[in-house]
Amino acid sequence: MIEVKNLTKQFTQKDGEMFTAVDNVSFHVNKGEIVCLLGVNGAGKTTTMRILSTVFEPTSGTAEIEGYDIIKEGHDVRRNLGFLSGDTGLYTRLKVREFLRYFGDLYGLERSQTNARIEEMANMLDMQEFLDKKIDFLSTGMRQKVSIVRSIIHNPPVMILDEPTSGLDILTARNIVSFIKRSKEEGKSVLFSTHIMREAERLADRIVLIHQGRILTEGSLEKLREETQLLDLDDIFVYFVNKMTDEEVAENEL
Ligand SMILES: Nc1ncnc2c1ncn2[C@@H]1O[C@H](COP(=O)(O)OP(=O)(O)O)[C@@H](O)[C@H]1O
Ligand SMILES: [Mg+2]
Repeated sequence: MIEVKNLTKQFTQKDGEMFTAVDNVSFHVNKGEIVCLLGVNGAGKTTTMRILSTVFEPTSGTAEIEGYDIIKEGHDVRRNLGFLSGDTGLYTRLKVREFLRYFGDLYGLERSQTNARIEEMANMLDMQEFLDKKIDFLSTGMRQKVSIVRSIIHNPPVMILDEPTSGLDILTARNIVSFIKRSKEEGKSVLFSTHIMREAERLADRIVLIHQGRILTEGSLEKLREETQLLDLDDIFVYFVNKMTDEEVAENEL
């Protein structure tokens, strides 16, 4: 379970001005639910996810992962979540299995536990043929699968996946999508980000639309369709972006 409450993150820019990357963001992800953070590049998706994963602290607001506070209980938060980020490092000289065992050790898992976990995930993600290859020799899609397994080797109840299928071929992307669906069926709480409308439509129980650091709206695809009387998520997204812009104009005119 993820509970995000009024999260704000400001960065100091080169010119000394403050820039608000995440602006008073609130949403939640229930157990057994897949929620998509959907927005264009620069919307604040990665920043939000990094804060949830305790990579850095928010300027204000807070969030809970499985009831643990991201600021005060970082250790428990990290134990309960797996975070796949775009810049997850891989040790390319190791073989996949060695690399994953290393991370199992870091999380304090028994070797037998780690091995069972690797086996289970490798079957789900179709990784058997390259488990004993050096990471150096793997394709982009194979590496992404390794990064996913690495991030959730400790079998956490909460999964935060930043653009998990970005730049992958369709077979690998499909494989990852069905893996995420299975994780949901196992009762995980999954938050993933994308800028690909189709993927949000296919995978998410609820979609949180984010733009310029702010939440435009959130809800199931059906709810968003009903609210806007539009069918395509593309059109729905543009509708809410325009609505936000109109409201800003109206505010400035007051
Ligand atoms: N460390 C940082 N310092 C300054 N600005 C940042 C930093 N990280 C992100 N930003 C800015 O915050 C905004 C949101 O970025 P990001 O969260 O990466 O968006 P997204 O993942 O939705 O593409 C962007 O304008 C980005 O340039
Ligand atoms: Mg990003």
